[in-house]
Amino acid sequence: MSGHGMLRVHVQAERCQGHNRCKIAAPALFVLDEYGNAREAGDGLVAADQVQQARLAQANCPEYAISLRRVDAA
Ligand code: F3S
Repeated sequence: MSGHGMLRVHVQAERCQGHNRCKIAAPALFVLDEYGNAREAGDGLVAADQVQQARLAQANCPEYAISLRRVDAA
């Protein structure tokens, strides 16, 4: 996997209303708390083979709570 231009996913907790579409679109990228609200799994880094799922999750969140940012290689 190339470290160049990796994406990091982030859930803005104050926007999340627990619709869980992100978890359906990209199960490995999100974890849910006891209220069903999501946050990014681990450090939020998106593997190359998860990019499409991450974009789908972002596009399907009705609260626009998911951000995807490009990060430099570590
Ligand atoms: Fe929350 Fe949006 Fe997912 S509201 S649970 S981040 S689909």
